[in-house]
Amino acid sequence: MKLSVIGLGYLGAVHAPCMAELGHEVVGVDIDQAKIDTLSSGQAPFYEPGLPEILKSATASGRLEFTTNMSAVADTTVHFIAVGTPQKQGSHSADMTYVNAAIDALIPFLKPGDLVVGKSTVPVGTAARLAAKIRAAAPGAELAWNPEFLREGFAVQDTISPDRLVFGVAPEPTAGDWSAQTLRKVYAKALSEHTPLVVTDYATAELVKISANAFLATKISFINAISEITEVTGANITELADAIGYDTRIGRRFLNAGIGFGGGCLPKDIRAFVARAEELGRGESLNFLKEIDTINLRRRQHLVEMTIEALGGRAFQKRVAILGLAFKPESDDIRDSPALDIAVQLHGLGATVTATDPHAIHNAQQKHPQLSFVDSLAKAVEHADIVLLLTEWNQYRDMRPEELAPLVANKNIIDGRNVLDPTQWRRGGWNFQSLGRP
Ligand code: UGA
Repeated sequence: MKLSVIGLGYLGAVHAPCMAELGHEVVGVDIDQAKIDTLSSGQAPFYEPGLPEILKSATASGRLEFTTNMSAVADTTVHFIAVGTPQKQGSHSADMTYVNAAIDALIPFLKPGDLVVGKSTVPVGTAARLAAKIRAAAPGAELAWNPEFLREGFAVQDTISPDRLVFGVAPEPTAGDWSAQTLRKVYAKALSEHTPLVVTDYATAELVKISANAFLATKISFINAISEITEVTGANITELADAIGYDTRIGRRFLNAGIGFGGGCLPKDIRAFVARAEELGRGESLNFLKEIDTINLRRRQHLVEMTIEALGGRAFQKRVAILGLAFKPESDDIRDSPALDIAVQLHGLGATVTATDPHAIHNAQQKHPQLSFVDSLAKAVEHADIVLLLTEWNQYRDMRPEELAPLVANKNIIDGRNVLDPTQWRRGGWNFQSLGRP
């Protein structure tokens, strides 16, 4: 099939080569010329395991092209909208500027028999509004909503072999059936491998996506709230999570307590969901998500306070080593990163912050040039008064107390992700603290 992917951020830049890898002919469109140049040369514009390999093989196959020129989509029949919906400035709502602009730019090139497929995370009601617009401006073209559930760090695997597919289609049976049929062909490989498929209406498809992220955020804030209780009772949050996680109704995943969730999705999605519920006169229904957000942000604050306490009451001129800047391992994404937020807060309190990360330094430096960045764990911890493990990259999980001890000024460490073994570090003479564990 001939497909276009409009918007080449973390979502589109993965979706386009993965679709080409599945045998489709794909054109990727973005307004950013620098990004197009990078992608056209077969390079990934951000760190994502497996993406460089798939980009190279897809561009070499001749089935994948990138351009800033929207007219290139005229030759294709299925058009994925993969642009971002960030948090609007000064508001909790989603900023729909890029989705609206993408649709407006696409409409002049639509022809009867084309299918526009929304993948962006949008406020419920968006698909119905866009479908009406497309039908009025381009008769014979249809819209479907096909939310994306990929995780950064596993994006290629999640796109090629998703754990489920959701197609939100038009209410009219002929148009709806045709749209679902077209998407079945796009995803024929995954469907042949028995990937569960839910074919539903627009609103359900939009809500599935945002509810999934709200649920994941709730799970994380739930365990972090309980960890605030374990902290004052001497209980152990990791053992507690293991024990409740054995109940298959609960499950162990997304029950890792620590400094909480960040990234370009969970934080802004729960806020946008609340904002949309309020517009719909159902604000009360999602009020709990405000608490989820508050609990999450409180964890960062708590870590800053623990750091100051461990430093004897003030951060001023103390040397703080920050291990990890990305919002999670296997990503260079620093959007709403708890680690970077903590680094910036401590710098603001007068600490001498030295930060490192295997892949996110460049992005962090662009956003916060006031911080000092170094390219290795050893350099970061040199003469440190305290070491903060904030993003659980494997190299930080694997570090050993006896390797760090000769480098630091004071053997103080806080494990913000609960991945180190407290006994091992304390045996090495370290003042070891973590969140929610004794
Ligand atoms: C999230 C969802 O997991 C994806 O399914 C979804 O497609 C994506 O958002 C999106 O909407 O595009 P992602 O933002 O890549 O994916 O990150 P997650 O793996 O969900 O992690 C989010 C944050 O939660 C990270 O900061 C991570 O460190 C934190 N986290 C995760 C915890 O603090 N504890 C946990 O147990 C798990």
